[in-house]
Amino acid sequence: MERRILVTGALGQIGTELLRALSLKYGSDKIIATDIKDTEKLSNIGIKFLKLDVLNLEELENIIKNYKINEVYHLAAILSASGEKNPKLCWDINVNGLLNVLELSIKYNYRIFSPSSIAVFGSDVGGLAFQNSPLNPSTVYGITKVTGELMAEYYHRSHGVDIRGLRYPGLISWEVMPGGGTTDYAVEIFHEALASKKYTCFVKKETRLPMMYMKDAIRATLELMDAPEEKLTIRGGYNLPSLSFTAEELYRKIKEEIPEFECEFEPDNRQDYADSWPDEIDGTLSENDWGFKLEYDLDLMCREMINSLKNS
Ligand code: NAD
Ligand code: SER
Repeated sequence: MERRILVTGALGQIGTELLRALSLKYGSDKIIATDIKDTEKLSNIGIKFLKLDVLNLEELENIIKNYKINEVYHLAAILSASGEKNPKLCWDINVNGLLNVLELSIKYNYRIFSPSSIAVFGSDVGGLAFQNSPLNPSTVYGITKVTGELMAEYYHRSHGVDIRGLRYPGLISWEVMPGGGTTDYAVEIFHEALASKKYTCFVKKETRLPMMYMKDAIRATLELMDAPEEKLTIRGGYNLPSLSFTAEELYRKIKEEIPEFECEFEPDNRQDYADSWPDEIDGTLSENDWGFKLEYDLDLMCREMINSLKNS
């Protein structure tokens, strides 16, 4: 099948790297990138960019119809820390934006990738979250992600929509700064280790969260979308095998490469969101259903982050 791909929220932390991976795999002329923000950069690499607010159903439909889209990577969202500042906007974009994408898929019959998050879990889960652990999030962002997972399962069951999702852990990448999440410290720390050799981390040093290097996350996304339908037992969001380290362990690992780097820990309101999430994820179902395996450990990820930032 020739892919004609639409990416929403394409200028964010994940979209920027997913666009490159998709264009390498399918060709840049097969991709329409969209975002509520504007850019002129993508024309240089042959990707067509259109400004789109996912809440604008009419515009979304025009793009899907005009470009005969048959696959949508729906990344437009408000993340956890920004969501707590504006819960209504977070609900509107994360839930109603997804509903627009789901409703049109009944008419235009395209496949959908819609990410979920470890934020679906709440503090009742304890340290280790299994696929079927309870979903009682305390952030509005987590509530929208649980709703998104349930809607994905519903549209698949009731309308046969081929929608797939992953519960991404905190994603670590160097190209684009993250967009208002709780796990942002794990990206900022690398930038500051190189730029100012000092960082004030906004969670406590003992805060442990599930994390993943972006290359593994992008590969997981492409592998899930390539998996045969009959292998999939979950449509809302698969737990992914993930790294798990404390903020202090990350600091110490970076300090091995940059000995003069100093980090202080001054928790703010994001500590509460981090405390409500699990420390570790059991991703056995992703391994069993569609064969996902993690490639980057903490050492490899840190070395690649530092080298990439030095050369950027
Ligand atoms: P991001 O904040 O970096 O990017 C989101 C993009 O969506 C931004 O470019 C923003 O301009 C755009 N956007 C916001 N409102 C929009 C609207 N109304 N219409 C169109 N575009 C809009 O986020 P990201 O990290 O790239 O996350 C992408 C998806 O992955 C989200 O669903 C997020 O919940 C999920 N996720 C991300 C992480 C992570 O660590 N980055 C972890 C778990 C899940
Ligand atoms: N990285 C995201 C956040 O912190 C988790 O979904 O909001």
